[in-house]
Amino acid sequence: MLRFGLLAVLLVSAQAAVRVSRKDHNIRKFTNGKIVGGTLARLGQFPYQASMQYGFGSSWAHYCGGSILDQTHVLTAGHCAPAVGERVVAGIIDLPATGPEAQVRTITRAVIHPNYSGVVNDVAVVTVSPPFEFNSFVGNVTLALNNQQPSTAPGACTASGWGATSWTGGTSEDLLYVDIDFIDDDTCMEMWAPDFSTPIPEQNICAGVEEGFHTVCYGDSGGPMVCTADDGGRYLYGSTSWGPQECGIPERPAVWAEVPYFNDFILDQIGGA
Ligand SMILES: *[C@@H]1O[C@H](CO)[C@@H](O)[C@H](O)[C@H]1NC(C)=O
Ligand SMILES: *[C@@H]1O[C@H](CO)[C@@H](O)[C@H](O)[C@H]1NC(C)=O
Repeated sequence: MLRFGLLAVLLVSAQAAVRVSRKDHNIRKFTNGKIVGGTLARLGQFPYQASMQYGFGSSWAHYCGGSILDQTHVLTAGHCAPAVGERVVAGIIDLPATGPEAQVRTITRAVIHPNYSGVVNDVAVVTVSPPFEFNSFVGNVTLALNNQQPSTAPGACTASGWGATSWTGGTSEDLLYVDIDFIDDDTCMEMWAPDFSTPIPEQNICAGVEEGFHTVCYGDSGGPMVCTADDGGRYLYGSTSWGPQECGIPERPAVWAEVPYFNDFILDQIGGA
């Protein structure tokens, strides 16, 4: 059985943690909680990046990231517990000041992986209506195929999101990104071994930099990690899942649901909805 060490937490936003635990999901305690050590994204740089938002009084609150798969489907994390009636926003970089490029869509169907449990099978696919209109600001990511490995070149992977910029900070207003290294399963497990039983190698992918700092944090959950593959293409390899409570500490890389492992589930949802 998988168990949490003191340091491992899901990377949903602090607000959403309250909401999600109300819905009785397997969520641990969260600290008040963007990408740590990130760079400001330009509009159109991450056309596949989505913000998952839920109604909060008379406004909407960002709770997780998402990756646009096609005009009507977005991948996010299981622990984000996306629900029908919530909304997905794309074509933005500034959360509070959405520009004319913003496309706001309503979730009409939300499928959390049937075997999702805590950090296991931590993926969900939502259907949105009306369909996104693809242009230079909004577009789909390309799924990694099972037989492609991310490149081991430094900085081959890029994670993006509006998550906290420090483990004690709040959600970022600006979309940020970091270029980080793909970390192989054995190295990742060795790093986490003192605190956590296992990052479940076959269904997770780890990335980071040895000294820490540049990484994902609270509110980045469900968002994309795109890596350069051996063929030189850029593909979706990860959906942000969990990391150390103190985001960005050295030797404790963040962990993503490994998208290729879930290709069958994802393709079923895209094809069957
Ligand atoms: C969920 O688990 C069951 C039982 O192990 C398995 O048969 C099924 O294929 C799994 N579903 C998915 C979508 O992986
Ligand atoms: C996304 O777009 C690319 C390029 O247009 C395409 O090859 C790919 O199949 C699309 N869909 C997914 C889910 O990757």
